[in-house]
Amino acid sequence: MGNNPLTLALPKGRLFDQAIQYFDLHGLKISVEERKLVAHDEKGLLQIFLVKNSDLPTYVAHGIAGLGICGSDVLHESISRFFRLLELPFGTTRMCLAARADQNPQAEKHRLKVATKFPRFTRNYFHSRGIPVEIIKLNGSVELAPLLGLAPYIVDLVETGSTLKANNLKVIENLENIVVYLIANPAYYKVHYPQVDRFIELLRNSA
Ligand code: PRP
Repeated sequence: MGNNPLTLALPKGRLFDQAIQYFDLHGLKISVEERKLVAHDEKGLLQIFLVKNSDLPTYVAHGIAGLGICGSDVLHESISRFFRLLELPFGTTRMCLAARADQNPQAEKHRLKVATKFPRFTRNYFHSRGIPVEIIKLNGSVELAPLLGLAPYIVDLVETGSTLKANNLKVIENLENIVVYLIANPAYYKVHYPQVDRFIELLRNSA
């Protein structure tokens, strides 16, 4: 597959174990030593950087990693352009508008005050539908916002729904299905496309 390994950014967090299992299924065994942030697969096809989920587009946009595994939730927050080379069969989830279980959404749907880790997605989603929105940016534990009165609504990922349930919140609306992609820096792809295409074929064919 060429002399130098392809560079790939992998997100720490909810997608990490699923990505490692997915590569394993396709014959790419990756073992990461505890607390190390750089790894290789056993065949030497990939050099892997473990980055924070929300930083992943930055590493790929700057060409530090040519490729990345990234959810569309995170891609929505980036202004950079990427090639989405392959939709991956894991990590799907939903981006939802949620509120306290006793909140009446109709009462104030003309102007939503929303706390979220996804301000760009939220702004684009509601503005494109003509709904004014005030956004409060948070970096985590967004479910606290309606409970403490910071904002009546949140836009957040819902996977099992257990975090919402545990905090007496409910989904008001499903906004978008979130999908995980193999992405590429466009310039990196143009230089390395024979090697990248062989990698994609490996992922497509050897499940
Ligand atoms: C994500 C998301 C929700 C939770 C949803 O948070 O933002 O809080 O998972 O999962 P569930 O529907 O299965 O309960 P994450 O675990 O990334 O932590 P964070 O809120 O600290 O960012």
